[in-house]
Amino acid sequence: MTQGRCTSVGIHLLLVVALIACSSQLLVDANSWWSLAMNPIQRPEMYIIGAQPLCSQLSGLSQGQRKLCQLYQDHMVYIGEGAKTGIKECQYQFKQRRWNCSTVDNTSVFGRVMQIGSRETAFTYAISAAGVVNAVSRACREGDLSTCGCSRAARPRDLPRDWLWGGCGDNVNYGYRFAREFVDAREREKNYPKGSEEHARTLMNLQNNEAGRQAVYNLANVACKCHGVSGSCSLKTCWLQLADFRRVGDFLKEKYDSAAAMRIGRKGKLEQVNNRFNTPTPEDLVYVDTSPDYCLRNETTGSLGTQGRLCNKTSEGMDGCELMCCGRGYDQFKTYKHERCHCKFHWCCYVKCKRCTSLVDQFVCK
Ligand SMILES: *[C@@H]1O[C@H](CO)[C@@H](O)[C@H](O)[C@H]1NC(C)=O
Ligand SMILES: *[C@@H]1O[C@H](CO)[C@@H](O)[C@H](O)[C@H]1NC(C)=O
Ligand SMILES: *[C@@H]1O[C@H](CO)[C@@H](O)[C@H](O)[C@H]1NC(C)=O
Ligand SMILES: *[C@@H]1O[C@H](CO)[C@@H](O)[C@H](O)[C@H]1NC(C)=O
Repeated sequence: MTQGRCTSVGIHLLLVVALIACSSQLLVDANSWWSLAMNPIQRPEMYIIGAQPLCSQLSGLSQGQRKLCQLYQDHMVYIGEGAKTGIKECQYQFKQRRWNCSTVDNTSVFGRVMQIGSRETAFTYAISAAGVVNAVSRACREGDLSTCGCSRAARPRDLPRDWLWGGCGDNVNYGYRFAREFVDAREREKNYPKGSEEHARTLMNLQNNEAGRQAVYNLANVACKCHGVSGSCSLKTCWLQLADFRRVGDFLKEKYDSAAAMRIGRKGKLEQVNNRFNTPTPEDLVYVDTSPDYCLRNETTGSLGTQGRLCNKTSEGMDGCELMCCGRGYDQFKTYKHERCHCKFHWCCYVKCKRCTSLVDQFVCK
């Protein structure tokens, strides 16, 4: 963890306050390249001319990441975008669960709860690494980066012979490699004693970062476009295309459900707690700690608790009031819901709707 930010506080009256601020900063520091998603980065044109300031101004980069930033300044916007895409997808996937992937503020992003090497943390690392692969691969294709272009993936063997290969594809090869350098840099810089808890956590992060990257890499597929006389599709051009990021999210969510509990073994490698299950592959998520209690607010674990969350009275799933409110019960409110309704199609071509208001019940956890 970086400590530079907290040095040189001389005035003793301020010292206590500063120490508190610093220690909480240190605690949450481990995830903070994600903060690139929070601080909007200026468009590359803006700093290419001036070159210097950007990398030193960005908060949350590790030493190695800062170096990469200097070498690949134009990539930073896309890393930020990728992280943002990952966070959004995480919030979508978990919106009906006790832990809902909410971001806490712009410095710590996910808050202290990420210090716990839980399943949820595993998912968060994977989905944000995936977001970076996604954003960088696409930026290559769009011609937005100086060091890469269209995908140069080999023609798939099973592509029908008369279809053309070579449309400009998403460069997942480059995206994967760059994300590996950048995202993992933070973990690789650490030098924890082999077999220590911190070492276990580092290995966990590396595995989950990789699982996220592989999800994007492996889900990328062939897309084609028809040519030929008036839609005859006698000729097709094909290229490599990223999957919709929702599919990546769905896939990683399944990996979350089947994530493997690990512990550090005698050889300083992660090994499975329960050997009855299949050994995790590089595509799988792993975790080393049990999840904290997400029911109650807890400053120590960083859990926000579910008080005040909306729940569904009739659902028996995680979004149902029973589970969401952890048995504490719920309050019922009536609120007005505004909807478009009585929509009519008008010739030609638009749809006109009325605005309807109805009174609906809402349930909120105590
Ligand atoms: C966090 O966001 C707030 C409001 O947007 C801003 O005032 C503050 O400077 C930000 N902090 C950092 C460290 O970026
Ligand atoms: C918060 O969590 C910690 C660690 O699980 C636990 O020891 C502590 O009792 C909890 N505090 C509260 C107020 O629930
Ligand atoms: C997620 O949970 C937190 C804490 O309970 C809550 O403040 C926030 O509004 C929730 N976000 C969504 C989108 O439900
Ligand atoms: C609540 O859950 C039920 C059963 O799963 C579902 O049919 C209904 O649409 C849900 N209501 C809301 C408002 O999401």
